[in-house]
Amino acid sequence: MNKDFYKNLLDNNKKWVLDSLNTDPNFFKKLANGQQPPVLWIGCADSRVPANEIIGAQPGEVFVHRNIANMVVHTDMNMLSVLDYAVNVLKVKHVIVCGHYGCGGVAAAMGNQHIGLIDNWIRHIKDVYRFHNDELDTIKDEKERFDRFVELNVMEQVLDLAKTSIVQSAWKKNQELSIHGWVYGIDSGIIKDLGANFSCDKDLSEVYQLDIKQ
Ligand code: CO
Repeated sequence: MNKDFYKNLLDNNKKWVLDSLNTDPNFFKKLANGQQPPVLWIGCADSRVPANEIIGAQPGEVFVHRNIANMVVHTDMNMLSVLDYAVNVLKVKHVIVCGHYGCGGVAAAMGNQHIGLIDNWIRHIKDVYRFHNDELDTIKDEKERFDRFVELNVMEQVLDLAKTSIVQSAWKKNQELSIHGWVYGIDSGIIKDLGANFSCDKDLSEVYQLDIKQ
């Protein structure tokens, strides 16, 4: 990457517009009519995990929320607003939590370094470590433990999505909505489906099942 990368950004944009119009003269006209993406993507802010590109999706196909370590924090108004709009207005059929191996946020959560304000965000990931202490502490190889922690963190965020009133209300209304947990390999480009898929609240601990009247 050259050091004047910034200077090229607007030129790159012009080239992209021309390329897009070459492929489809109505490309932008169609997008201007509105969006109906079938998927909400909750991913890590990491620059190496661009949502659309790695799943071959076009503009208009994926509604995206990204933060450090793809967290679903139930007091995060930003995440909740994105989720609410995606589920109740856009009526997405799938929510994908996509983590990635080598995640800096997850690595920070395994250590004890004090970084700054971000410590408070990382704390949520440390809680996931504590939930799975027994399994993680038996893994002696640090890389293996790191990889497993990344996977467990994604699965925990999938559960946290299922616990939200937004998702549970949709399920109560029999709205078609599945939640999936994936992990992306930065060194391979391959996505692993963790199989942590939910389409109803029956697998949630009873204490989280909200009594939502229709
Ligand atoms: Co990350």
